[in-house]
Amino acid sequence: MIFSKAGARCLTAHAASALRESEPVVRYEEYADFDWNNLGFGLTRTDFMYKAKCTLNNTFEQGQVTDYGNVELSPAAGVLNYGQGIFEGTKAFRGEDGRILLFRPDQNAIRMQTGADRMCMQSPSIEQFVDAVKQTTIANKRWIPPPGKGSLYLRPLLIGTGPTLGVSPAPEYTFLVYASPVGNYFKEGTAPLNLYVNNEFHRATRGGAGGVKSITNYAPVMKAILRAKEQGFSDVVYLDSVHKKYIEEVSSCNVFLVKGNVISTPATVGTILEGITRKSIIDLARDLGYKVEERLVAVDELMEADEVFTTGTAVSVATVGSVTYNGQRVEYKMGDELVSQKLYKTLVGIQVGKIEDKYNWVVEIK
Ligand code: COI
Repeated sequence: MIFSKAGARCLTAHAASALRESEPVVRYEEYADFDWNNLGFGLTRTDFMYKAKCTLNNTFEQGQVTDYGNVELSPAAGVLNYGQGIFEGTKAFRGEDGRILLFRPDQNAIRMQTGADRMCMQSPSIEQFVDAVKQTTIANKRWIPPPGKGSLYLRPLLIGTGPTLGVSPAPEYTFLVYASPVGNYFKEGTAPLNLYVNNEFHRATRGGAGGVKSITNYAPVMKAILRAKEQGFSDVVYLDSVHKKYIEEVSSCNVFLVKGNVISTPATVGTILEGITRKSIIDLARDLGYKVEERLVAVDELMEADEVFTTGTAVSVATVGSVTYNGQRVEYKMGDELVSQKLYKTLVGIQVGKIEDKYNWVVEIK
């Protein structure tokens, strides 16, 4: 369904200026003029973003919602020269009852603080982070897809914007939040993924920054992803860099395997991202009666599993149809009774307000 222009409207000039003064916006059209049926995981330019700055060893100024647009940077900015940057991803959902719901934004705030500490950056407080995500969501409300069509992906970004020539923390930091409506992360949609186990490239090493959401963790995996895609695979499973034997994660998500009633996933020991969806799925699976183990998981176990699935904010819960390792391809069972499907439906049901949220994970934006 395409929502007609007649049914859509931008913020009025008055509302936009009220927003810039951090007042709640009064009036919106319900939906942007957009084809909501063809959402993938690409950037769609929305109306507003949030921006706040601070200098080293200080707290962040009160942020502002401003028009979405480019950011001006010194050529010597810490992020450009030394990769001093971390990011988050979280989603806003529109419930069928019209409520706007966020999923565990406080957990993203905490993870940003941990990452900032690792990368020697200033970070916003948990309150400021959550408030920034809420403000960005409300400002871009007309870009939150209709129920069942997708979500508004929020991208909080913390970067060293001050100039630094020697290798040292930047003297100034910028905290931004921008937003884009998204659908399925993988071009496969909800079809099962075909993963390739790469034993040549590693995502992270012990003592590195693989456990935090540093921007520096992503460019190094692009070559592995592109090569896998050229061969028709959906994405890559990385192995540990020491033994080249234990699975770690997929480029943009955590990985789980199911064998009988036991669900196993690699323990987070500094080389694996502590996914918020990962830990939510662990709780949901335990509550559904599965035994969940966080431990070293050998690649051989992946090849002998009943089921494999991946989790992430962008990815949600994605079923894996096959894994290829050392020239051997295994295919997993499919069908409606999959553990991954049960977990997916429970997670999304909570996120969109259809299933009771006994965990207090969901935050309604009023
Ligand atoms: C997310 O799941 O939010 C992520 O950060 C994945 C991203 C690399 C696309």
